[in-house]
Amino acid sequence: MPSKFRCIRCSREYEPGSVFRCECGGLLEVVHEPIKWDRSVVDSRLCPMGVPYSSGVWRYKELIHPGLAQNMIVTRPEGNTNVYTRKSVSEFVGVANLAMKHEGENPTGSFKDRGMTVAVSEAVRQGAKAVACASTGNTSASMAAYAAQAGLKGVVFIPEGEISYGKLSQAMAYGSKVVQVPGSFDDAMRIVQEASRELGLYLLNSINPWRVEGQKSIMFELLHQRGWESPDWVVVPAGNLGNTSAFGKALLELAELGWIEKVPRIASIQAEGASPFYKMWSSGASSLESVKPETVATAIKIGNPVSWEKAIRVIMETEGVVDHVSDSEIMEAKAVVDASGVGCEPASAASVAGVRKLASKGVIKPDEDVVCILTGNLLKDSDATIGYHTGKLKGVSGKHPNAPTRLEDGAVSTSLRRILK
Ligand code: F0G
Repeated sequence: MPSKFRCIRCSREYEPGSVFRCECGGLLEVVHEPIKWDRSVVDSRLCPMGVPYSSGVWRYKELIHPGLAQNMIVTRPEGNTNVYTRKSVSEFVGVANLAMKHEGENPTGSFKDRGMTVAVSEAVRQGAKAVACASTGNTSASMAAYAAQAGLKGVVFIPEGEISYGKLSQAMAYGSKVVQVPGSFDDAMRIVQEASRELGLYLLNSINPWRVEGQKSIMFELLHQRGWESPDWVVVPAGNLGNTSAFGKALLELAELGWIEKVPRIASIQAEGASPFYKMWSSGASSLESVKPETVATAIKIGNPVSWEKAIRVIMETEGVVDHVSDSEIMEAKAVVDASGVGCEPASAASVAGVRKLASKGVIKPDEDVVCILTGNLLKDSDATIGYHTGKLKGVSGKHPNAPTRLEDGAVSTSLRRILK
């Protein structure tokens, strides 16, 4: 072992182990063997192109917003999200070759940053002074951050009491004005469209096609990471249907360019209590009928998805499917993804629950190559996570609860032995 522990008081050295204090009582520090190392090695490990091409969105600029001048680009940068495989999750869903691309690793903790960097840059190009969106939380968090960076006023419309505190706190902290709408996301969506028309606010929901252009980069980056080898399936949670629309557009564009040989099938997964798109698809109806949404996955608690016309085309063109999963199935899948060390917010886990359901029905075969998109970070909705583990989540009985234990006075080791059993 070339590295050692050394006492900061008496310089005595130790082999690194589980003792962290010197016999003299001093703290230990790690010392490495001296090396000669050329700085060019670390230089070569950095993305050589810098901003904006270090962004997992703007790397594909020519396919997203080719005409935009570079000095208009508002980027953190975003993307460059990891793809994970975990045996426990594969076993849970019954598909050995399952991967999860974690869009919760974006700057504000959700995939929304990919569309937002493009649409806010476009707002700057157009000389907008103020931007607005309706949101179940993540869009507002993302918009508020990018508006702050661009020096634009931001106004977000949220369904009152319906969005998680993590997301609400982001919108407030980044400085957007928060307007609470009594009603659902769908009411907020209607109001923001009226307000934008009347007050000249630049609208940043995924009805804005630039948002969809940015979200295409989830597929560009995924295929790039896989050496342009397509999986059999891409499975995505579905709310307002911006992602479903963007993924199909991206994949068809890559096929057209000849960068991929096969277009993966897209599976769009809704929450059972908020599944108008599933109802439309499964009944073969030609238009969508809105529903009153109800689900623990507040991010996708949407009864009247704006992009359904784009999304249904994508399902047809990719020979895709639409399904729905219950709140218990969502939270069970989340508990398994969380316990694998990857972690995600409830809506994201709909994709994993969806694979499990489609595999159990034989739609997805156990030997197929499947990628789930995890759309948001675990920390976005701690109320739902704590509610699950403490058995306090309405309508959900957890199979993997992990509630905190109270240390009993004077019985430390007895309590701990019981926990560690
Ligand atoms: N997952 C998460 C974490 C989301 O925040 C959303 C949408 C979706 C999935 C659904 O994606 O709308 O493209 O089908 N959240 C929006 C919001 C509606 O306002 O943050 P979609």
